[in-house]
Amino acid sequence: MFLHALQEHFGFISKDAVEWTASKLGLQPINVHELVTFYPMFRQEPLGRHQIKVCRTLSCALAGAHQVRTFFCKRVGLDPHKHGPQTTSDGHYTVEFVECLASCGTAPVVMVNETFHEQVTVEKAEQILAGCRAT
Ligand code: FES
Repeated sequence: MFLHALQEHFGFISKDAVEWTASKLGLQPINVHELVTFYPMFRQEPLGRHQIKVCRTLSCALAGAHQVRTFFCKRVGLDPHKHGPQTTSDGHYTVEFVECLASCGTAPVVMVNETFHEQVTVEKAEQILAGCRAT
């Protein structure tokens, strides 16, 4: 619960947060570090203002999720061949693959922060980025 609260407040779990949590719980920092690095829901770096999550599970993969992620990466200046979440140097965008977002029938599916986008084509992805730039 500590770690979830810290991540919700700061956006990620810093090294200082690991050490603080360990001291509060009477643990060694390595014990907390193991948790943070084991569970994929914990982040060790800050996220971009616009978090673009592209579902890569089967229905979305078959419907073009890889092309959509590649488009987002190239458009914001990230490496489409790199694995894992990536954040632009200006902190505006984080692009990452995620597992099933529970709308397989409307694949490919993308979430940008808390907004859900279905049947995302490259054209629709361009509109999504335009919406991000406007905010
Ligand atoms: S496979 Fe993408 S939403 Fe389920």
